[in-house]
Amino acid sequence: MSDTTAEMTPANALLTLGEKQLELPLLVGSEGERAIDIQSLRARTGCITFDPGYGNTGSCESAITFIDGEQGILRYRGIPIEQFENGASFTEVALLLLCGELPSQAEYDLFSADLTRFANLDEGMKHQFEGFPRSAPPMAILSAMINSLSCFHPELHALDDAEQVRQAAARLISKVRTIAAYAFRHSRGLPYIYPDQNLRYVPNLLHMMFSQPYQQYVCPQLVREALNLILILHADHEQNCSTSTVRLVGSSGANLFTSCAAGVCALWGPLHGGANVEVLDMLERIHQGHISPEEYVRLAKNKDSKVRLMGFGHRVYKNFDPRARMLGAIAERLLPQLAGNDPLLEIARRLEEIALSDSYFIERKLYPNVDFYSGVLLRAIGIPTNMFTVVFAIGRLPGWIAHWWEQNRTPGSRIGRPRQIYTGAQERDYRPIDQRIESKRMTS
Ligand code: ACO
Repeated sequence: MSDTTAEMTPANALLTLGEKQLELPLLVGSEGERAIDIQSLRARTGCITFDPGYGNTGSCESAITFIDGEQGILRYRGIPIEQFENGASFTEVALLLLCGELPSQAEYDLFSADLTRFANLDEGMKHQFEGFPRSAPPMAILSAMINSLSCFHPELHALDDAEQVRQAAARLISKVRTIAAYAFRHSRGLPYIYPDQNLRYVPNLLHMMFSQPYQQYVCPQLVREALNLILILHADHEQNCSTSTVRLVGSSGANLFTSCAAGVCALWGPLHGGANVEVLDMLERIHQGHISPEEYVRLAKNKDSKVRLMGFGHRVYKNFDPRARMLGAIAERLLPQLAGNDPLLEIARRLEEIALSDSYFIERKLYPNVDFYSGVLLRAIGIPTNMFTVVFAIGRLPGWIAHWWEQNRTPGSRIGRPRQIYTGAQERDYRPIDQRIESKRMTS
């Protein structure tokens, strides 16, 4: 659309397309961010917008999370994430995201009691774990088993009111821990440990992962605090890849469990939540002497190498990701107490130092993201590497549910269905097989 220009006025945008001019409404969010509303564009001009990767596309209005990527600001329901460092629990942050307000003591107690009550899995679900090979990636098991909840809770497929959603959310947020822990136990060939009714959210997860039938795991206070904060910092991040996936799947009317199972799949990729595993692999490689931090950064700048500095860069943040800042500081503070002096933390600091003073990273505004320090911290609290992204998923679940519900109750919500610019063959005839020329080309 080279003959197209858009000019902004306070009230609308003026689009010139060839001879035609049209006014498009301008939307302004509560923090002043602006969008041109193009919903009528195709009907009025025959054109669609083209935005691969959706870098300039607002897919919805949302009141859950605010990010200012230029300033490095992240707020849940208006509250800056830094404020959750002083004693907030993951459970109350989950309720904040779901309900819009911090819970009263009574609301908190009720939800906590539900999380405890719903932690067990149906025994039929437990048997399903046996069907997976030991080597199965825990993210694959997590997604499959969250989807399985659809089979065990058909009564929660159609959710019409806030109370039903709260109940479904409590089940899902509670059971995801049990599923995660069982996936881990299965991979190690260990017996499953049932949830303990006397334990809170975070210690119960660690108990199911690390207790033995003959010995209860005792959760150190520091570990509980660190994991609680990690979960809080992952709890929502507006329209990221996995949340958009949950919304897209949910937009077809798919139930909450299925939509969140799809979110787990999207999160698994190394460019998204899977980056926390890649960061640790990168640090390990450097630690084992296969490559120096300087060489690694050099490699990451070379496009032919296909290597990226994992845990760096973000679609939205063109400044420090505030979560990375917080996790880096926590790692600095807690690691000496949890795991002694971890050489991987020093390597991470060195990589950060090199990258932040390198023109390649400065010009592209590439800063550490949430995954850069979460791995070293998770490792220090005893979480095995293949469970890093699972922990991310446990943290992100309240956000997914909040977005699924927000979309469901938004009047006029439509099925998500992008368009495309078709670049394939024009109309041609079908040929019988004996008249075709062999072609070894793979076409998409
Ligand atoms: N290392 C080296 N170069 C990078 C990196 C990186 N980590 N990230 C971006 N770049 C470069 C790109 O090569 C590109 O360079 P160019 O303009 O010369 O072509 C430029 O910076 C812009 O990068 P894009 O890939 O276009 O940015 P996009 O917004 O599409 O991707 C992403 C963001 C996926 C996070 C990217 O920065 C990346 O791959 N980072 C590493 C993986 C990672 O840490 N992912 C976790 C993100 S946080 C989360 O999802 C929980």
